[in-house]
Amino acid sequence: MSKAMQHFIEALEKIVTQGGTEVEVTAKVADLLEPILGEPDLLTPEQMVMKDRGYAMHPVHVAADDSFSIAAMILDTGQITPIHDHGTWGVIGIYKGAEHEERFLREENVPLDQSASVQILPSNDVTAGHVHICCTSDKDIHRVSCRTDEPCVGIHVYGANIGMIKRHSFNLETGMAKTFVSGWD
Ligand SMILES: [Fe+2]
Repeated sequence: MSKAMQHFIEALEKIVTQGGTEVEVTAKVADLLEPILGEPDLLTPEQMVMKDRGYAMHPVHVAADDSFSIAAMILDTGQITPIHDHGTWGVIGIYKGAEHEERFLREENVPLDQSASVQILPSNDVTAGHVHICCTSDKDIHRVSCRTDEPCVGIHVYGANIGMIKRHSFNLETGMAKTFVSGWD
């Protein structure tokens, strides 16, 4: 692991331990992540391996108490995730390429197994060297895709062990949700 990533993890630990609102924590994490995105060896070659099918999510670090995790997410050209939520806060930093993020708002107070209207919100493009606060409890549904003709490498930081927690994917037409656990690659 690179020195820059080691220092990032140590500082992240302090931010998470300190706590605060999701808005405060994500702002601090974004400020911490953006300056290291230009580091040449921030990720190991193993953490940037692509999969033949679907996007890859490699664990960079998972806190011993599952209070936060860092994922290297690799999207090849043309790859796109399902519409999904996270159930925790999240900050995305783009290391290589560019990620296109579409955001959605599901009708409130409708059980997840029932139909609900889904509103399409303005989308975002995040390019290398930049960060984006993707998820807080009130703004948690999106899908991301690789925006350019080179693979996109993102460093995603979450307020839980994102590979192991129960999350939801959504059908855009019906608004109905399916529970999933992504696992780690
Ligand atoms: Fe996501």
